[in-house]
This record gives sequence, C-alpha cells and structure tokens, in this order.
Amino acid sequence: MDHFNDRNGALFAEDVSLEALAQAVGTPVYVYSTATIRRHVRVFRDALQGIPDPLIAFAVKANPNLSVLRTLALEGVGADVVSEGEMRRALAAGIPPSSIIFSGVGKTRDEMAAALMAGIYQLNVESEAELHALSEVATALGRTADIALRLNPDVDAGTHAKISTGKRENKFGIPDDQVEALYALASRLPGLRPQGLAVHIGSQIASLEPMEAAYRRLGEIIRRLRAAGLAVTRADLGGGLGIPYDPSLSAPPPPSAYGEMVARVTRGWDVRLAFEPGRLIVGNAGILLARVVAVKPGAARTFVILDAAMNDLIRPTLYGVFHHVRAVRPRPGTMIATLAGPVCETGDQFAEDRAITPLQAGDLVALMTAGAYGATMASTYNSRPLVPEVLVNGAEWAVVRPRQTYEELLGQDRIAPWLEEGT
Ligand code: LLP
Repeated sequence: MDHFNDRNGALFAEDVSLEALAQAVGTPVYVYSTATIRRHVRVFRDALQGIPDPLIAFAVKANPNLSVLRTLALEGVGADVVSEGEMRRALAAGIPPSSIIFSGVGKTRDEMAAALMAGIYQLNVESEAELHALSEVATALGRTADIALRLNPDVDAGTHAKISTGKRENKFGIPDDQVEALYALASRLPGLRPQGLAVHIGSQIASLEPMEAAYRRLGEIIRRLRAAGLAVTRADLGGGLGIPYDPSLSAPPPPSAYGEMVARVTRGWDVRLAFEPGRLIVGNAGILLARVVAVKPGAARTFVILDAAMNDLIRPTLYGVFHHVRAVRPRPGTMIATLAGPVCETGDQFAEDRAITPLQAGDLVALMTAGAYGATMASTYNSRPLVPEVLVNGAEWAVVRPRQTYEELLGQDRIAPWLEEGT
C-alpha cells in the first residue's frame, strides 16, 4: 500500500499535489512518501513480532538518499551497506554503528578498515581470501571483527537472472560444503570473531519456498557448526522479498506470511536474527514524475515521449521489468501507447503497447514503484543532469537532492594539460 492517491481527479503524494510539485521543482523528479516508508517499516516489524530482538538493516543500495535514511534511522532501522560510501551515508543519517552490517563480495582493505574503525555490528564475509585479508586488517588496527559467513545455498530464487544470487554458479557466498571449514578457520585466525551465518538469494522474490529452502540449509549448517563445538549467535536472513509492481497481477506473499515462515523455520535456532529488506521498505514509497514532451504516432505504434529516460530509471531497460504508469490527471478513455524517453537507444522505453488513459504533450505521468533502485541507479548518460529527489511528509515537502546543474555536470570533467589553449 502507498500514499499516492487520487484527489478530485488528480494524483497526490500524501497531501501534496503532484501538479503543484512539478510546477515548483520541474520534471523529471523522484517523489518519496514518508508515510509509506514508515508504514512499510511498521508492517515489516509487525510481521516479525514472533522473533525476539530482530535487527532490521535496510539495504541502503535500494535508496541511499540521506533524508530517506534519516527517516529510517528515526524509526530505529539499521543499515546493510556494501561500500564505504553507503556506510558513510548510514552513519551521516544517524544510524548507529551497532546496527550496521557490511555485506558485499569485494570489500577492499580500506573499506574493511573503515568498517572496523566505525565499530559496526558485523561484516559478512564471502570467501577464504576475504577472511585472511580481514584478519590482517583487524590485527593491524588492534580490533576484533564480528563476522558472519555468507552461505551460497545453491537455491534458485526464481527471480530475474540478473538479480539472482543464491545459485552455485553465482559469484556470491561460500559453497555449502566449505562453510564449516572456513568457520573453523575464522575462529582460529586472529582479529576475527565468527558470530554466525548470512544468506541472501536474490531480489524481487515472488515465492517463499526458495527462501525457506535457503533458511533450512542455514539451520542445518548452524547445527553442524555447533556439533563441531563452534559458537553461533547470529543469523542474517538477507532481503529479497518481492513487492507488487503490476496491479493486474497477484501480489507476492505479504510480509506477514514471510514472518510466519521465518518464525517457523528458525524456531530453536537460539540466535539473533537480522534482516536486510530494501525494496520492501522503499519500493512503493517512490515515483518518478515525468512530463509528456510529445505524442508521436509512429508507423507501427504510438509513442508517448517523456522527459524522463532510461538514465533516470534504468530498471525497464536493464531487466525488462514492469512499472505501472499513471496519468497525474487522467482523461476519460484509453489509448495504447509505448512510453519512451528521449535517449538515443531503442531500449529507452518504460512501457510497450500499454493501455493508458489518453495523454497529450504537457501532461504529467507517474512511473509508480520507483522508490527502490530508481534514483540510485541513475546516470548522466546523454549528458542529462541527475534528477532531483523530493521527500513528502503530509502537506510538507522538501527537495532532498537538488537537480544537478549544467555547471556541475560539466564541472566534473578536466581538459588535459596538452589540450589547453595556448600550449
Ligand atoms: N542484502 C543483500 C546482500 C543484497 O545484495 C540485496 C540486494 C539486499 C539485501 C536487498 O534486497 P531487496 O530486499 O531490495 O530485494 N537493481 C535491482 C535489484 C538489485 C538487488 C541487489 N541486492 C533491481 O532494480 O531490481
């Protein structure tokens, strides 16, 4: 559920008119709803009611805007980060180090050192090489790293191949049959304190079965480790639960069903559980608001050209996925249109042959469910400035990331000395 609603024939974000907002800030613009973010945190927390003291660590990669992170910090949510940049954002937003998990398959020694100096909750280690490197970095700094080993459970998450992470052919995690030996090694290496295991098998997962299978594998390994005399106090169950994108399809299982499954599968584990939801928290809390530049009747289909493009929201181009598109002030009737951006690539499309209320140049449209993996994956391709972000809270709103100016865009480049005038 979100807080983008129709009010007297026009779309609002909470109590803010999107027409007024577009007028004030221009388009394209990402718009986030505080009420929706908060609601999703509460729904997820309620779903985990049967679990003692869960650590909810928001996957910062889904939406790293500082105001979004701050909103989450005030809800008591922690962070799952995969780079020093994300860790700095989480800390800057006021998320305590004691609720930050550092994941990722290729942490550099500098990143390890930064995480250890910040005193974060845990680093999730993905290989033997990383164990040795972390042990060395920690020892040199005189610190002890609390770690979890990330298991690759060889489970097919049944999601898009590009965001599937739990199969044995994927780069992520430690193969099942190596976890025990590496855990024992970790307990012997200086500077490391192995606390438990982690697993994350993919994103936008539409069924609980693969997650349950992965968690069961994890549970078996916990038992094996304990039988070998090794201490296990934590388990990180990752993120990945899917959200509804297409209102005409049945929705993925709700957080409540996920929570029940987790409570059932983890009963008796006697560990502190951590969760890393990203999309679930922010996906439906954001839209990309764009304006129609032109309606172009092509030879084969009608194109609606927007001022937003693949560089602003790459998900449809990259994964071929569906985003619901709503006219901000819908007219009666329907047209079949292909919504595209101005970028010089045929893949620069948001929707193909989509039935939508009739659109004209100057109309506003909302690309729904763009709060996760939207602005954060944007680029300046075609030298298009990065799109601004606005956070709405009831009747208030604020630009939480201004539109990049052309000066900033060009100012990133340097003329090589031998190309400078007069040389
Ligand atoms: N934890 C780890 C270790 C992850 O790699 C991810 C996402 C998450 C948690 C959060 O997953 P979520 O709850 O958001 O599904 N750009 C893609 C999604 C990539 C997800 C990468 N990892 C997209 O736009 O669909």
